[in-house]
Amino acid sequence: MLYSPVVEAAPDERPRPKMSGPALMVIFGASGDLAQRKLLPALYNLVQKGLLPADFTILGYSRTPYSDDEFRELARHGVEKHADVEFQESAWAAFAQGIFYVAGGYDDPAGFARLQARITELEGFRPTGKNRLFYLSTPPSVYEAVATQLGQADLVRPAGESCWTRLVVEKPFGRDLASAHALNDHLLRIFDEDQIYRIDHYLGKETVQNILVFRFANGIFEPVWNRNYVEHVQITVSESIGVEQRGGYYDKSGALRDMVQNHMLQLVSLIGMEPPVAFDAKAVRDQKVNLLRSIRPLAPQEVGNYLVRAQYAPGLLNGDALPAYTDEEGVAADSTTETYVAWKLEIDNWRWNGVPFYLRTGKALPYKVSEIAIYFRRAPHMLFSASNHDAEHISRNVLLIRIQPDEGISLKISAKQPGPAVKLQPVNMAFHYGSSFGSTPPDAYQRLLLDVVLGDGTLFTRRDEVEVAWDRVSRVLDGWQMQEAEARAQGAPLRLPSYPAGSWGPDAADHLLAQEDQIWRRDL
Ligand code: NDP
Ligand code: BG6
Repeated sequence: MLYSPVVEAAPDERPRPKMSGPALMVIFGASGDLAQRKLLPALYNLVQKGLLPADFTILGYSRTPYSDDEFRELARHGVEKHADVEFQESAWAAFAQGIFYVAGGYDDPAGFARLQARITELEGFRPTGKNRLFYLSTPPSVYEAVATQLGQADLVRPAGESCWTRLVVEKPFGRDLASAHALNDHLLRIFDEDQIYRIDHYLGKETVQNILVFRFANGIFEPVWNRNYVEHVQITVSESIGVEQRGGYYDKSGALRDMVQNHMLQLVSLIGMEPPVAFDAKAVRDQKVNLLRSIRPLAPQEVGNYLVRAQYAPGLLNGDALPAYTDEEGVAADSTTETYVAWKLEIDNWRWNGVPFYLRTGKALPYKVSEIAIYFRRAPHMLFSASNHDAEHISRNVLLIRIQPDEGISLKISAKQPGPAVKLQPVNMAFHYGSSFGSTPPDAYQRLLLDVVLGDGTLFTRRDEVEVAWDRVSRVLDGWQMQEAEARAQGAPLRLPSYPAGSWGPDAADHLLAQEDQIWRRDL
């Protein structure tokens, strides 16, 4: 390993983590998977780490009837199983004292009247500072209803008062541009933009945040971060699971909506954006939006030239047999939902013109990996090619930003193999989070929840950001719809290409790069 923290700050010189003030957090959909697996464990972790006050107040709301104690018991299971700090009875007992529950429907004025009464009661004896955080952890079909009821129950205080009210909205935020726009319009009738925190959990990952630090805290990379030096970029987010129990949700979504519109376009924007004037929510998001607006919008008939989609066929995944996607529970037998998508994305601006960003994501691929590979142009004149067949190939520098697992950054360079002949060999300069910082990064929800309480929106998506991302994705969806309509008109309903589960995707994705004399990274 060539990099490690060069100067260890003495403990008392380290920047102190920001401790948040008091608040009450209402979790809608509190009986569900996200609350149990992510939100409650993250809150417990934050309290134990001293980043949230020890008397932080949590109020669960969903339709399932629980008493406070029953809900605490449910929460305990989630925390015991998923928190990353060690579970201790005494710490749990103190944390659980701050957990409460109200049962009610999402479009039910009587339920919201009970909620309102409980909030008022809790604000009377818990130290909440009258700050309210509402978290939409329900299916998206009820987001609008919950917001409406919050407004009608008079639970939303205008921004700017001495105490705050904030709303966190989970993904998916809409299913196309029109629905995202409508949801934004609706929420903004009740909340101000500054009160709305649209979650993309990729932005809470340490390694994703580190992209900005890497680019803008190191003087040597920015000068080569452009079309003069970068040949192309590959972004891979692969998963080694099928759709598991989520077939019903996934079949209405697909890889483009589930992964590309949000997580992958966020990665593109962080890699491609111009330097912000400051590291604050407005400046960072302004530049991200500019980058997203530069993504070339596709006409429906062009979509086939830039994107490949496919579904997994039966295969072996980690030694286990996986059925075809269309045989999974909750998936239509004639489904045309993609479990794999590859996109040759062009960015029409001065920095990136002519530099393709190749994106690929899929389920049932060989490994779970999220990474960004920046391929630099070859040396302009290769001195060593005569004596070395591979020189052209291996002389290309690749900067690899590994989001997960084995989080870190490496730079592939060519080195001379020891010996009398000049023989080149690729070697890596590498930084690993684990060995440099002695720990693995915390779960993204911890950082994101803390930022909401602190009122820092930098790692959340703004209205214009989410809409421009949906605009580019909706154009692709229009193209796919056109393909399906054409196939139907010809009497041959569209079947997507397939790839065996456990392989790296369809051949067509390889052809997409082969047209440009490129190949996907294989040694992930
Ligand atoms: P769940 O399906 O577990 O739903 C949460 C709760 O909402 C349920 O316990 C149920 O509570 C209620 N609910 C379920 N279906 C309906 C329905 N059709 N109408 C009204 N209420 C319903 O969702 P998750 O907890 O998995 O996810 C919550 C949100 O977070 C979703 O928007 C999801 O897309 C998003 N998300 C989830 C992730 C995860 O890992 N789970 C990851 C990223 C995003 P009750 O019946 O008691 O009211
Ligand atoms: C979610 C998607 O947003 O991200 C899931 O809905 C996907 O389908 C998950 O599995 C991947 O997240 P991560 O953090 O495991 O890469």
